[in-house]
Formats: sequence, C-alpha cells, structure tokens
Amino acid sequence: MKILNYGSMNIDRVYSVAHTVRPGETILSHGMNLYCGGKGLNQSIAIAKAGGEVYHAGVLGEDGGALLEVLKRHGVNTSHIKHVAGASSHTVIQVDEEGQNCIIVCAGENVRVTDADIDAVLAGFAAGDIIVMQNELDNTPSIMRKAAARGMVVAFNPSPINEALATYPLDCVSWFILNELEGEAITGENEPGAILSAIANKYPKASVVLTLGAEGAYCRHQGHTFFQPAFKVKPVDTTAAGDTFTGYLISGLSHGQPLPTVLERAAKASSITVSRKGAADSIPTPEEL
Ligand code: RIB
Repeated sequence: MKILNYGSMNIDRVYSVAHTVRPGETILSHGMNLYCGGKGLNQSIAIAKAGGEVYHAGVLGEDGGALLEVLKRHGVNTSHIKHVAGASSHTVIQVDEEGQNCIIVCAGENVRVTDADIDAVLAGFAAGDIIVMQNELDNTPSIMRKAAARGMVVAFNPSPINEALATYPLDCVSWFILNELEGEAITGENEPGAILSAIANKYPKASVVLTLGAEGAYCRHQGHTFFQPAFKVKPVDTTAAGDTFTGYLISGLSHGQPLPTVLERAAKASSITVSRKGAADSIPTPEEL
C-alpha cells in the first residue's frame, strides 16, 4: 500500500518571543530561525521516519531547494513535485516561553495546483492507496474528489481552517485527523464527545482522530472509541506536533498495526516533537520513541 501526501511545503521563519504579540502591541524577539516546514512536508517526513513508503506531491517555488533536499534526505519520494517560477510559501511563527505558537501562513506560488497536475499525479496510484491532505493548497476539494473516485483512502487534516471548508466534499474523507478548533469549525460543537458524535452522524463511514494537545487524543473507528493520553513533557516548541501525530498514525495504519499501538506511538512521537525546536527536524525516529 502506497501513501501519497498531496501537501504544502513552507519556509518557516520562527521568532522566539516572551509572549505572542497582542493587538496594537509591538514586541521584541529574542531571535529568529529558519526551518523547513509546511504541514504537508512535516507530515511526509513523519510518515517516512515512522517507516511508511511516502510520495510527496505538490509545487515548489524557486527558493524551495532546502525543502526538496530535506524531503529527499528523509527518504520521501519527490518525483511528483512540480517546480514553478516565483516564491514558495513562508510562515511567520511566534514561539513563546511556554513553547506555544501562533502561525501566519503567507501563500506563495506553490499553493497553485491545477486539475491537470492532480490527474498526472493520481495516475500513479490505485484503489486502496492512502492519500493524505491538509488545507494549505488551493485546489484541495478537487484532489479529494478525484482521489476518492479512484478508490483511494482519503485522510484529511483540515488545517488551517477557513470558510471554504464548508464547501468541501467531506463525504469523500475516510479519516479525519483534527484538533478541537478544527472539529468545531466542521461540526459547530466544542466538546470532544460532541465533535466525535457529530462527525460520526454526518459521515458514518469515516473514522475520526481528535487531538487535544496535553489532554491526549480520541479516536472513533468503526463504532468504537479509543482514548490515548498524552505523554507529559516540558514543551519547548509545539510546532509540527500535530503533523508528527498524523504522520505516525498514517504510517501505522498503512502497516496494519493495531489501532491502540498506532495511537500510542503517534502520541509518543508528537510528545518528543514538542520537546524540541523547529518543525520537520524535530520529528523523532522510531528508535527515539
Ligand atoms: O503544523 C506546523 C506547520 O504549519 C508549520 O511548519 C508551518 O509551515 C505551517 O504550515
């Protein structure tokens, strides 16, 4: 079973701050680091590190050399990445002294994915292969529809949330992987049990993984509900923690591991990511778990 991640690749500009900036306020940063990131890229690297066979599809701008290199270095197949003129997406990330972050994504030329691009990529995949998507590319509904029509297993992490989400063909999704805010955006509910029930009622064939940060994660799959507590660590930078969870989850599912094992490994891996700075580089290997 192959895994295709049709996903974003961003250059992360990460600013260390005492607290995240408030409306009308100007603050000083203790320093800035550049990292390879993007929810798509982070998730591909997490899948590869966890032992999954992953192909990353997407677009890179002229400044995307480091993004391509880091994917290759971690064993991600990059043959479906298209190169275009112009700048790649970048982010402005504030990380405070508690390790919490705020992220602004500034879309570059590399969020544009055409229907012809999608058809060319999907031609290499078959029914039963998994496709992983986030919400940082501009033609996500089309990718979702076309992948489901091929019989691929669609795993969707609806992050970042936007108004367009309400128009997506979410009945194509087999696995929702989301946090409370994303769950609220999709269901209008704000309590974990209510979010899980609302998704189960609306999309009865889908499985749901609801991550709650330090409170752990719930998974509803084929009528059963699992709870996975978080591993307690001192947070340094929460960036890519959710992406790590998603990557380990998808890799574990692709290997047919039992769900409780998959959830435990995903939680352990994301707790290690939280204890380190950066995005893709902070994702642990299975040996580190
Ligand atoms: O999930 C973390 C990622 O979100 C960052 O790497 C940033 O690029 C944004 O896409």
